[in-house]
Amino acid sequence: MSGSEREWNAEAYDRLADPQREWGRTVMDRLELRGDETVLDAGCGAGGLTAELLERLPHGRVIAIDASRQMVSRARALLEPRFGDRVEVHVGDLAELSIDGVADAIFSSAVFHHIHDHEALFACLYRALVPGGRLAAQCGGGPNLVELQRHVAAIADADPRLAALAGWPGPWNNAGAPETASRLDAAGFVDVATWVTPAPVYLPDAARMREHLETINLRSHLARLPDAAARAALLDGVVARMASADAPMTLDHWRLNMAARRPTG
Ligand SMILES: C[S@@+](CC[C@H](N)C(=O)[O-])C[C@H]1O[C@@H](n2cnc3c(N)ncnc32)[C@H](O)[C@@H]1O
Repeated sequence: MSGSEREWNAEAYDRLADPQREWGRTVMDRLELRGDETVLDAGCGAGGLTAELLERLPHGRVIAIDASRQMVSRARALLEPRFGDRVEVHVGDLAELSIDGVADAIFSSAVFHHIHDHEALFACLYRALVPGGRLAAQCGGGPNLVELQRHVAAIADADPRLAALAGWPGPWNNAGAPETASRLDAAGFVDVATWVTPAPVYLPDAARMREHLETINLRSHLARLPDAAARAALLDGVVARMASADAPMTLDHWRLNMAARRPTG
């Protein structure tokens, strides 16, 4: 991953990420916390969901990791004054994590589809858990954003300024449920369940859709383009196509859900 692909506009993400927060809460609900656990927030972003996690852990703590320095700095500014030493926030790559046997649970939302090596990721997460520790995660998966990628391809094919995107399948690793179950099994997890669900996001306001695409869904596409004119052509073209699509102004999100446990023995 290049530096510009790793970095996020943390302020804009925080402002726009209502759908991500909704998804994250459903994953958090599945953890059924007692309130005194140590939980790893794997890919904490700007820290909004990490704060909600800490509210569910009045006697526990959170170790939050994210690859983006901007995200980590915003998460620290939000979390440290409020939760003090019950939270630590680190810059790190989850697929190279070297935490051993400290987390009672792992929470992750909207992160794993950004990581190409799921075998390495699951091996690291397994190692980070205490025996008996649980994983509750969700990310893009299955046919996630296939329609959006179709819009991108149609525009890129017709505009030489967008040549860097022609034939590019996009930055995501949208894994399926059966292959993910096999990878979690292979990493040593038990009680594995994986399933893919539709999660369309409707944003009727064109300006908001444009900013959402710029900040979240098309960040990596835009980072490949040579200049501001090319980036504007992509964003304007995609928003125009979305406005006249069969399901207008809808991002065709699909979520891959994971539940698993490190065995006690
Ligand atoms: C869509 S945001 C989700 C943030 C937060 N979990 C939420 O739901 O609001 C995706 C986050 O994954 C992080 N990320 C992507 N690849 C990562 C990796 N290999 N290791 C750690 N974090 C990563 C990004 O930096 C970004 O903050």
